[in-house]
Amino acid sequence: MDFIALERSVTAHNYDPLPVVLTEAKGVWVTDTEGRRYLDMMSAYSAVSLGHGHPRILNAMMEQASRLAVTSRAYHTDILGPFLERLVQVTGLDMALPMNTGAEAVETAIKAARRWGYSRKKIAPDQAEIIVAENNFHGRTTTIVGFSSDESYREGFGPFAGGFKLVPFGDATAVERMMTKNTCAVLIEPIQGEAGIVVPPEGYLKDLRAICDRHNVLLILDEVQSGLGRTGRWFAHQHEDIKPDGLVLGKALGGGVYPVSAFVGTHDVMSVFNPGSHGSTFGGNALAARIGLEALAIIEEEHLVERSAEMGGYLQDRLRAMRSNIVKDVRGRGLWVGVEVDANVVSARSVCDALLENGVLSKDTHGTVLRFAPPLTITRDEIDWGMERIERVFARAVH
Ligand SMILES: Cc1ncc(COP(=O)(O)O)c(C=O)c1O
Repeated sequence: MDFIALERSVTAHNYDPLPVVLTEAKGVWVTDTEGRRYLDMMSAYSAVSLGHGHPRILNAMMEQASRLAVTSRAYHTDILGPFLERLVQVTGLDMALPMNTGAEAVETAIKAARRWGYSRKKIAPDQAEIIVAENNFHGRTTTIVGFSSDESYREGFGPFAGGFKLVPFGDATAVERMMTKNTCAVLIEPIQGEAGIVVPPEGYLKDLRAICDRHNVLLILDEVQSGLGRTGRWFAHQHEDIKPDGLVLGKALGGGVYPVSAFVGTHDVMSVFNPGSHGSTFGGNALAARIGLEALAIIEEEHLVERSAEMGGYLQDRLRAMRSNIVKDVRGRGLWVGVEVDANVVSARSVCDALLENGVLSKDTHGTVLRFAPPLTITRDEIDWGMERIERVFARAVH
């Protein structure tokens, strides 16, 4: 059967997938319908940080699903509390509001920030402003794409909600200049993922923390992609030793099998919510909570944060050492690496296609950057296997 033709005929063309039809996966390996094996160096944009089909996740999922799965939050369960207790412990924050997807958790953060602004900072009704960065990516709802600086995300979807101010990413003084008495929050990715794994200058987050404190403004970090070990720390903001007022998490929290997200914050921020002010039928359901709890336990017990730092260092060294005149830049943290290619010579997409033919799954972003973000469980031997192929493709792409 031609699965690609079938999918194209019945699925909206809101993605442009690589020409491969996957049918199974285990750990860092995925297999297509022809029986070919690929090394997954994308891990579903970090959603599969624990690897495909982690046995502990599968056991927890099956056990929980057959006992209690979805009740809605009209009732308490014996698993939501333990999950969020662990989540607030690892984040160093106080309370959490569980949702499903990253975008929903970002929407939750926006609501929290605005309510906090009105109730605590006494901002005049409907005047609250949130400062965001150019080239941000926080999801696909109409509010969120409304403050994107990427026209392809916005075109034809207006009118958009107001109240967002864009500043260049990585420039803390621009944030301070944009502050007004109506600013309630700065919402930022500590490392911009979809923009091409853009690491800000050293000290940026520390400066943002100080500026937010000076102006009585919340610092909210979107770590949907950078969090939970991806950068070699539990959270990317820990590289600068700061603490946000609110933290948005998702992707890897779902153990690679289920959408689980959360907005985590201080008591002060989270106390703005009262019954009826926000919710989601599936958010925080027993199955999600059990999977989230198990995912956090695996990250800790399998030392995936330390592994990400160590294996990430190794992967980055190998990518930097690659001899290829199409590479303009190699950047990243931990097992999250962007390789920027020279757009005058080659497109990142064509390199992805060549990698696919050689058994490595990657994905381009913005036409010029390939991302390498394998499961945090990847071994040195598996990186070597992948690098042999990556080097081959990059060497050939020169000619
Ligand atoms: C930083 C960041 N925030 C939010 C999202 C949106 O998450 P979701 O696709 O689960 O809605 C993403 C997705 O890539 C992301 O990278």
